[in-house]
Amino acid sequence: MQASFIGFDPGAPGGDRTVVKIGPHTLYCADAYWIRDSLGRFDAEFMDPPYRFDNSGGGAFRKARGASDQIVTEELDQGFEMSIINPLLAGSIVVFCHNDQLPELLGYLNPRYKRFCLLGWIKKNPSPMRNKHYLADVEPFVHAWNPGFHPVGEHHDMHRWVSSGTMPAKVFGHPTVKPLDVMDKIMRNLAGRTLIDPFMGTGSTGVAAIRQGKIFTGIEKNPRHFATAVERITSAWEQWQA
Ligand SMILES: C[S@@+](CC[C@H](N)C(=O)[O-])C[C@H]1O[C@@H](n2cnc3c(N)ncnc32)[C@H](O)[C@@H]1O
Repeated sequence: MQASFIGFDPGAPGGDRTVVKIGPHTLYCADAYWIRDSLGRFDAEFMDPPYRFDNSGGGAFRKARGASDQIVTEELDQGFEMSIINPLLAGSIVVFCHNDQLPELLGYLNPRYKRFCLLGWIKKNPSPMRNKHYLADVEPFVHAWNPGFHPVGEHHDMHRWVSSGTMPAKVFGHPTVKPLDVMDKIMRNLAGRTLIDPFMGTGSTGVAAIRQGKIFTGIEKNPRHFATAVERITSAWEQWQA
């Protein structure tokens, strides 16, 4: 295990903090709203924050999958503070969201970034349809950028936004882990070398970043998910070096 534990700051403003270094990558177990600004500027910000949506209903399917209840328990259906997105602190940004958040999110990003694109990735096993909404088999995300940080790489391989397989409802004990092939594709289109994910979860962004030779900083407030991220990112870093 090549992760080195750098520090633990109990009782820091906003709650206890732990910092772990894995090669050039840095992971913080902390509240992102308290520490994001202090970490400074990155080429890109890539976030999968808590969605805001009506998570009721689902009947028997809900019981069988179990992920919906964990989403409620961990408040992953309560949305996030968009003010954490600061164009002075990242040249471009990718944000995953629920359809219900799109009007507010696009309104927030539009005056702050020069251009943006609304994109979607295709889920092979979406949650069952409920609450008189569409089946959530296409999940939106937005890529917005300022001059000098426009999308790079191959733009024509859009099929890669289709997750290659079905994901179990819970992976790594987390209810909303993003598939790595989708993360890899998005990562390839991000300009620059440094990036930060303030809502890292189990570290999928970090794994994809390392596979592309980028330098990753992640923040996660839940110590259990943070431990999973440390494990996954350590293993990705070892494979990158091999
Ligand atoms: C949608 S999940 C991210 C899942 C991640 N993309 C993955 O593949 O594992 C959002 C994560 O943000 C974390 N989170 C929520 N509020 C936070 C905060 N204020 N600071 C840091 N992390 C936070 C949650 O604990 C959760 O793990």
